[in-house]
Amino acid sequence: MIANKINKFRSHNIADVNTDTVNDVVTLSGWVHKQRDLGGIIFFDLRDRSGIIQVVVDDTVSKLLQNQGAELKAEWVVKVEGTVRLRTEEGRNKNLKNGDIEVLISNIDVLSKAKTPVIGVSYDSDSDEVTRLTYRYLDLRRSEQFSKLKMRSDITQTIRTYLDEQSFIDVETPMLTKSTPEGARDFLVPSRIRDGACFALPQSPQLFKQLLMVSGFEKYYQIVKCFRDEDLRADRQPEFTQVDIEASFIEQSDIVSLINGLLKAVFDRVSIPFPDKIIEMPYKEAMERYGSDKPDIRFGLEIVDLSNEASQSSFSVFKTIVENGGSVKAIRVPGGVSFLSRKKLDNLQESVKPEIKGISWIHLKETGLQSPIGKFFTDDLLSEITSKMQAEQGDSIIILANENTTTALEALGKIRLSFRDQFLEKEWGLLWVTDFPLFERDKEGVIQAMHHPFTKPNDDDLDFLKTDPTKCRSCGYDVVLNGHEIGGGSLRIYDPEVQNTIFELLRMSESDIQAKFGFFIEALKYGTPPHGGLALGLDRLVMLLTKSPSIRDVIAFPKTQNMACPLTDAPSGVDNEQLDELNLQWKVAK
Ligand code: AMO
Repeated sequence: MIANKINKFRSHNIADVNTDTVNDVVTLSGWVHKQRDLGGIIFFDLRDRSGIIQVVVDDTVSKLLQNQGAELKAEWVVKVEGTVRLRTEEGRNKNLKNGDIEVLISNIDVLSKAKTPVIGVSYDSDSDEVTRLTYRYLDLRRSEQFSKLKMRSDITQTIRTYLDEQSFIDVETPMLTKSTPEGARDFLVPSRIRDGACFALPQSPQLFKQLLMVSGFEKYYQIVKCFRDEDLRADRQPEFTQVDIEASFIEQSDIVSLINGLLKAVFDRVSIPFPDKIIEMPYKEAMERYGSDKPDIRFGLEIVDLSNEASQSSFSVFKTIVENGGSVKAIRVPGGVSFLSRKKLDNLQESVKPEIKGISWIHLKETGLQSPIGKFFTDDLLSEITSKMQAEQGDSIIILANENTTTALEALGKIRLSFRDQFLEKEWGLLWVTDFPLFERDKEGVIQAMHHPFTKPNDDDLDFLKTDPTKCRSCGYDVVLNGHEIGGGSLRIYDPEVQNTIFELLRMSESDIQAKFGFFIEALKYGTPPHGGLALGLDRLVMLLTKSPSIRDVIAFPKTQNMACPLTDAPSGVDNEQLDELNLQWKVAK
């Protein structure tokens, strides 16, 4: 039977050729994946984006066809015609979807030849990342890379459908805009028309989405590119995508259930079991138990406070720290005696320097306790500590102290994370971190907005704004998956007076406020509904769901750690004429 042709290139996608199509004459197009010449019989695997199929050129076909088959090379683009047949019993490949069948060739058209690929497509290549990104179009031919981007597309589609069903409206906001208040460095675009002025690429659509609430849109979303010129890490890119959401007349619990529902739809779509119960943990608790505002709750090793016990010891370092308002914190490392060598402990110590001067430990050995600071503790104190830590023989306790409790917690949180792979109990750990402080102090002790200055203070804490603003909690929340912040948001200030108080506390002058946010403050005065929202980091979410080690794996054309694109060689120089038009010149002549 001759199958109906889709078009002149193919009657079927490769994945649709199966045991039901045996004896059909098919036309397939794709890339030569691998070729094997078994002296007289040539086999080649043909690949399209749907799959791979074995094609046979044997001695029953014309000499011309045999010669054509022998010439084929990896990554050539060909169109083939042939008859589907069952493979011989011994030729079947149980590991391949199409492994029971093959196509006996009757015609080959070479549509396009290929240079020898610089990086492997049909085999695992050990090319370095810069080479892979320089030839990203070849790298993306690898099925592993393709399926990650396909999963990204499925996830985006699911999110759109979900939000559409919840009556959210997709609105685009400008890319050429004014600096937005997310706290990173802006990417600037000089204006040709307005001398000495620049647009900024948006760090997020924050102010525009709030303006849409003033406009009465009530439910907005956008899957949108954001730009931040900040140091890159495995889960950060200068150009990334947010699922940006804002809604009016809502409470925090509405946002939490909306996003939990959205994440469930996404998890279901990619067949990952969604947790039955998602906890909400106040920031303070997350810091105290895990030393992080994005705790990885998939394993234990929780932080315990030993300040009281340490202050009763004769160890002056700990005592002084506690007397000065600092803390002594510890984690129990199960079975640590067997693998926490002196070298490993030294490395852990190095990893938290210079903030932490040193770490200490107690090994619970069969022969008794062993610790460099043991002599400063009475036996009673030591047994109080081991029982508080629920430590057993074979365990180790790692202890550190700092005059700044947050510094101590963060350092121990970092040490805790270094044991993650060893102690992981489950695959997925999803939670909300809530009640973030409204402000934090920077290194110079100056008050800064912890998120952005439009975050609503917690109504119960408004008095702190007058007494000790750093004690004031905000209505800000983050959603955390496997120790990564995959989303953040808040309820917003909609009262211009509260907004002014916040600006005053941030020591912003009237002229500064006007220059930066004047248009926005003005808008708030025209009848602003209570509103709030959140933005999910789409790339991070997909990175985690595809179990990729880097965010770069789930972005089609990402930037390297040096913030460059090896494929296009961007950023690159510009012509003097272009600079002249913008009235710009390099400070140092190029
Ligand atoms: P926030 O700054 O927390 O909030 O950003 C929201 C989420 O975006 C992701 N993200 C990033 N992903 C990759 N590379 C980056 N450089 C990067 N920076 C942030 C994170 C983060 O949780 N306007 C607010 C949202 C709101 O309040 O509604 C905002 O942008 O997953």
